[in-house]
Amino acid sequence: MSTNNSSQAHPRGALVYYVRDVVKTRESEGVAFRLKVPSLQIAMGEKIALVGESGCGKSTLLDILAFILKPSSVGAFRFRPERDGDPLDMDAYWKAGRLNQLGDLRKRYLGYVMQTGGLLPYLTVRENMDLCRNVLGLAQDGTIEHLAEQLGIAKHLNKLPEALSTGERQRVAIGRALAHRPSIVIADEPTASLDPYAAQKIMAHFMELVEELNITVILASHAWRHIKELGLRRLHHRTFRSEDRNLTETIVSG
Ligand SMILES: Nc1ncnc2c1ncn2[C@@H]1O[C@H](COP(=O)(O)OP(=O)(O)OP(=O)(O)O)[C@@H](O)[C@H]1O
Ligand SMILES: [Mg+2]
Repeated sequence: MSTNNSSQAHPRGALVYYVRDVVKTRESEGVAFRLKVPSLQIAMGEKIALVGESGCGKSTLLDILAFILKPSSVGAFRFRPERDGDPLDMDAYWKAGRLNQLGDLRKRYLGYVMQTGGLLPYLTVRENMDLCRNVLGLAQDGTIEHLAEQLGIAKHLNKLPEALSTGERQRVAIGRALAHRPSIVIADEPTASLDPYAAQKIMAHFMELVEELNITVILASHAWRHIKELGLRRLHHRTFRSEDRNLTETIVSG
C-alpha cells in the first residue's frame, strides 16, 4: 500500500489523513443532512480548525475522522498515524466490518475532547484522566499529576466531576484526551460552554501543550474570533440549504 498519493511528498510533510470524495448522509424525520469532503489532507503536527454554525456538520466530520461514524461512501480514506508506517486503508476496515481494529486505532492514536465533555460522573478526576492510559496498560509514571499541574487542576484530582466548575471540567476533558500521549487530538468545541475570557485562556493552554508534544490537532468551533490568534489552519466549507429546508449540504475541503 505504499504506492499511493498519501505516501508521496506533500508540501506540508507526511500526511496523517488523506481523504478523497467522502460523503456522509444523515436523516431523521424527513430532514436530511449531507456532508461532502472532496479532498482533505492533514499533515503530521498540523493544527486545523473547522469553524461553522450549529448544524453545519462539524461533529459529523470529526466523528468520521475518529472512526466513530462510518461514511456513506468513500473515494479514498487513508490514515497514517506513524511517520515510518504505511498508510492504513480505513475504507477497507469499514467495509470488512473490522470494528475492533478501528477501536484499537482510536484508543492508541487518538485523543477526543468531546463536545459535551464526556467525563464519567462516578469516576474521580484522576480516574477520568487515567481512563485511556488504563485501557492501553500504560504505567503510573506521574503523567497524570504532571498534566494536571500544567492544566491547573492538580488540587481537584481526587474529586468527582460534579464538584468542579464547567471550566475545570473542560480542563479535565482536555487532560484526559492528552494523557495517553496520542499522536492526534480531535477537539469538538472544547470551550463552548465557557465565557470568552476563560475559553481563550484554556485554548492558549491547550495549544501550548499540543505544541510541546507535537500533536496533530483537529478542532471544531462556532467562533473563529476565539481561535484565530492560535495559529490554526482553517478548513474551508460551504453550506447550502434546499428551499423547503429539508436538505442541508456542507462541502468541506482543505
Ligand atoms: N444521529 C443523528 N442522526 C441523524 N441526523 C443527525 C444525527 N446527528 C446529527 N445529525 C444531523 O446532522 C447535521 C449535522 O450535525 P452535527 O452535529 O455534525 O453539526 P455541528 O456542526 O457539530 O453542530 P453544533 O455546532 O450544534 O455541534 C445536523 O443537521 C443534525 O441534525
Ligand atoms: Mg457539534
